[in-house]
Amino acid sequence: MPCYVRLMGKEDIAQVTEIDRETFPTQWPPANYQRELENRLAHYIVACDAGKMVEAPRVKVASGRGLPGLVSRVRQLFNYEHSFGEELPPSSQEYIIGFAGFWVMADEAHLINIAVRESYRHQGIGGLLLISVIDLATELNTSIITLEVRASNTAARSLYGKYGFTQVGLRRGYYVSDREDGVLMSSENITSASFQARFQQLKQAHTRKWGTALHQIAR
Ligand SMILES: CC(C)(COP(=O)(O)OP(=O)(O)OC[C@H]1O[C@@H](n2cnc3c(N)ncnc32)[C@H](O)[C@@H]1OP(=O)(O)O)[C@@H](O)C(=O)NCCC(=O)NCCS
Repeated sequence: MPCYVRLMGKEDIAQVTEIDRETFPTQWPPANYQRELENRLAHYIVACDAGKMVEAPRVKVASGRGLPGLVSRVRQLFNYEHSFGEELPPSSQEYIIGFAGFWVMADEAHLINIAVRESYRHQGIGGLLLISVIDLATELNTSIITLEVRASNTAARSLYGKYGFTQVGLRRGYYVSDREDGVLMSSENITSASFQARFQQLKQAHTRKWGTALHQIAR
């Protein structure tokens, strides 16, 4: 399945929120991706299915544009535009199958989230997203990547372990919804020769296994 990763934009908020709610239904407070995109510490990427498009959410547009000034202002005064806005015909949009985001604080990138739609799992997308996070964090001059993961989340812990993250702490009762423990994991210095050598091997292995149909960040 051809897929590529790119930076997240405003047009992706609805689909990313949908994936987030499906994946983490008990998370409280729920993530607010509008706010995350406005946060200058945050960096989000999305993985898209290159062979599928979906209908974009319908957008109301003001109908008073181009009207003489006075008419336009009267319409605004009576909220005319809000109630009688024209609906643009639906346009198509890329289909997002996964996303990941991290915050940069000084030289540390803290992974906030990574998720793949259930029907797209086990096809290398989670690996591709994590590879892209590591590459982007390196470009942003950070030197370590940290994260918290539920103790019972064997899939995610195995993914992180594969890419060189190790457990550096345990936060008892960290998850408020059910008091599950959070495992704190960290990479070694991602700019070190040893990390980069292993990482480049893992990237090559990922390409060998999944083919070149999976592409990293398209800018
Ligand atoms: C974790 C997650 C992102 C992995 O995505 P994915 O696309 O299935 O991952 P990949 O196919 O790229 O697999 C990469 C590696 O992850 C690990 N992995 C993935 N699914 C696994 C599973 N069910 N059990 C054990 N290990 C698993 C393996 O190490 C795998 O490497 P391998 O193929 O060499 O065995 C996905 O399961 C998910 O979205 N989970 C729900 C969200 C979540 O828990 N996020 C983490 C929050 S901290």
